[in-house]
Amino acid sequence: MYDFAPADTGDKPALYRDLESAVRAITDGERDAVANMANCAALLAEFLPDLNWSGFYRMVGDELVLGPFVGRPACIRIPLGQGVCGTAAAEARSVLVEDVHAFPGHIACDAASRSELVVPVMHDGAVIAVIDLDSPALARFGAEDQAGIEAVAAILSDRI
Ligand code: SME
Repeated sequence: MYDFAPADTGDKPALYRDLESAVRAITDGERDAVANMANCAALLAEFLPDLNWSGFYRMVGDELVLGPFVGRPACIRIPLGQGVCGTAAAEARSVLVEDVHAFPGHIACDAASRSELVVPVMHDGAVIAVIDLDSPALARFGAEDQAGIEAVAAILSDRI
């Protein structure tokens, strides 16, 4: 059994430091990308409050394809440049959306989602996947969340 229960102190930098340690520990020495993405999706859901979806889309050819996640069943294929995930992948940058209803082309997989953070996972200069977090709360994600998830993405660069 893995027990990575986050401390509930309201200290976001501390929460993300703990999350990064947990991601490092659970993927250490494991080469299977699906196993590592699955455990990381579960860790994100466990550590971060107010999420309704946490998981991965993988670059397969010239599109994003659904990977391991925690949440409701989601759309399977996202063309580059479409939606929040496709924009993050096409532009190789994090996209933070305070209100998904105000994001042109947002792809609604779960009608409950109100805000979203998508962070690319890069390897050798190319996007290999994106981490997608959805929340039912407006403006759930901020700069600390973006920096924390970017640190997680950097750890996963050669582990997925
Ligand atoms: N909302 C995303 C699609 C993926 S789901 O949120 C799981 C988007 O616009 O890319």
